[in-house]
Amino acid sequence: MNMTRRDFVAVGLASAAGLWVGGAALHGVAAEAPGQLPEEDGYKLWLRYVPLGDVANGHRKVVQQIRVDGASATCGRIRDELRSAFTSMWGSAGPLNGNALEGGTVIVGTPGNSTLVRELNWTSDLRVVGEEGFIIRSTRIGDKPVTVIAANSDIGALYGSFHFLRLMQTGRPIDRLDITERPALQLRLMNHWDNPNGTIERGYAGRSLWQWDELPEKLSPRYADYARACASIGMNGSVINNVNANPRILAPENLRKVAAIADGWRPYGVRMYLSANFAAPMRLGGLPTADPLDKGVMAWWKAKADEIYGLIPDFGGFLVKANSEGQPGPKTYGRTHAEGANLLADALAPHQGVVMWRAFVYDEDVDPDRAKRAYLEFTQLDGRFRPNVVIQVKNGAIDFQPREPFHPLFGAMKQTPVIAEIQPTQEYLGQAKHLVYLGPMWQEFLNADTHAQGSGSTVAQILAGQGQPSHITGMASVVNPGLDPNWCGHHFSQSNWYACGRLSWNPGLSAAVIAEEWTRMTFTNDDKTVAVIREMMMGSHEMFVNYTMPLGLHHLIGGDHYAPQAGNDRAPRADWTATYYHQASETGIGFDRTKRGNRGVEQYFPPRCDEFDDITKCPEKFLLWFHRCGWDYRMKSGKTLWDELCAKYQTGAEQAATMQQTWQALAGKIDARRHKEVADRLAIQVTDAAKWRDQILEYFGRFSKKPVPRSHG
Ligand code: GCU
Repeated sequence: MNMTRRDFVAVGLASAAGLWVGGAALHGVAAEAPGQLPEEDGYKLWLRYVPLGDVANGHRKVVQQIRVDGASATCGRIRDELRSAFTSMWGSAGPLNGNALEGGTVIVGTPGNSTLVRELNWTSDLRVVGEEGFIIRSTRIGDKPVTVIAANSDIGALYGSFHFLRLMQTGRPIDRLDITERPALQLRLMNHWDNPNGTIERGYAGRSLWQWDELPEKLSPRYADYARACASIGMNGSVINNVNANPRILAPENLRKVAAIADGWRPYGVRMYLSANFAAPMRLGGLPTADPLDKGVMAWWKAKADEIYGLIPDFGGFLVKANSEGQPGPKTYGRTHAEGANLLADALAPHQGVVMWRAFVYDEDVDPDRAKRAYLEFTQLDGRFRPNVVIQVKNGAIDFQPREPFHPLFGAMKQTPVIAEIQPTQEYLGQAKHLVYLGPMWQEFLNADTHAQGSGSTVAQILAGQGQPSHITGMASVVNPGLDPNWCGHHFSQSNWYACGRLSWNPGLSAAVIAEEWTRMTFTNDDKTVAVIREMMMGSHEMFVNYTMPLGLHHLIGGDHYAPQAGNDRAPRADWTATYYHQASETGIGFDRTKRGNRGVEQYFPPRCDEFDDITKCPEKFLLWFHRCGWDYRMKSGKTLWDELCAKYQTGAEQAATMQQTWQALAGKIDARRHKEVADRLAIQVTDAAKWRDQILEYFGRFSKKPVPRSHG
């Protein structure tokens, strides 16, 4: 299909706006021969660069040789990536940096390192893309048709190269390109909850990637592979240790190990960050206190920051979990979160480091309702943080539940930058045993209208700096890679790593577009198969919600955060039980956060708070989050609440079984190894979904005293 330049730009815009434009016409890629696909273990993620059949002929004409003039390590990585990609796709990559400029050259560079790019004089266009963005254009130099990937920095050129390769991998035409990209958010971070002993808190893909025993002498090749994967989706930093931080990560011998990893990541633009334990001055430094207003403590953190920057000159900063779930913090000394954050911010400021202070706090003293506590604590501190502090806020007010309304802190902090924290590692979403693509859930979150500045103030816009300070913007993702051969445990869990990166770059991207991109690169470019997988993925989150916690229910689990345990009524804290949240009794079910209840809705801006408050307007997906309802409450469907609940669980379990059949029918379209590994986990998912349905309905049935309708049991 021949597209004009204007058409192509329009398609790009439509996709960015979330409109799916229909893959087949753009791709038209021939099916890969069934039954002959070489087995894959998933290690290559979405960077497989497999031969593309017919479509490759068009690509080959555009790409005949490569020109990357820059001398930096990053430019070396760009050359390596393009050469190995082209060699893998076509058997040869063509000449590299040849003397004469030929038609069909792909030129990658910046005005600083490439005469050809400089002479194009794209200065004003390049101004638009900032430090990390890029331009990709099909153009002519003299009479030679060329493709130029231009940026202001080598990292921008690297991102542009990965974008160009993505177009090819997904079977897009590359002969009339006019693409301008700039990341919407500055901090696009991976958060690892990895412990020094090699375990991963909430990790489901084997042990930690970081080999502390071997470092700093020995560098696992996986560090570079990891950074390359991060860069390919635009991630530019990583916090490598658990927020429940061991203070010893800051010990000199460990910092040298951290620095060795950081050195390997630098060419890929992935900066190192660390979780800091607030009591480190005591536990590591031997001081008698960690009081943020103590001069000795201030001096300790300053010296520590200087030491870190001596080893890692581009160190990004600290992530801190303070006074939360037993972690030390400033409140231990009668100080505020702002005083605590500012202590570290002052130590990092001379080096341009940032503090990411987590809002995941829920002191029982603040309010009886856990969901209200962080908002109450942090809004009163707005304006009291140093400029290099950001507040890192989970997508919802409880804790990465299968579905939560957006956290009311988004839009509420007017003088302090807020960044979002999302969780690709599926702690409450099937833990790499269940196929759950989180793109739709994050899209729902990012598109949610907070009304913080009138209608249209979506979470995505707030994150991008509208209605809150824009000097630091970002999104952090609690990620899932471990030492498993396929990195993420479940092959489909890779899609959550992929999607969090793509959304950090552009929170306006549609989940369907991302799913399709990922599928084409990860599994196959066969249009029909792609469409089937994309639809499976797109339905998987709602399906999971249906068979676990529909209609605004949440936390129906116990300590493993995996299996149904709605009767869980014993834990060290009331707000770790299930009964605290669902409050089921013979009179009904749900948590009353309305204006007549605990007034939690008032943390949202009007008219959002009124909508959540009014049972006739509250979206039913959040019903029992905000309302307490009798079992006979009449739903919009006309069913009673009890019957609707039964129907949701039944539908979810059926959807899981259907998904299993759908995948079964793709045998031969996907290589046998990955097909089987996914099928094995789907079998677990189907069994688990039925268990969820049966156990939850049996449990709630004890209160509703109603039978499960015949068709639902
Ligand atoms: C959840 C999770 C913990 C984690 C905590 C956090 O509660 O289960 O493992 O430490 O979130 O985000 O700090």
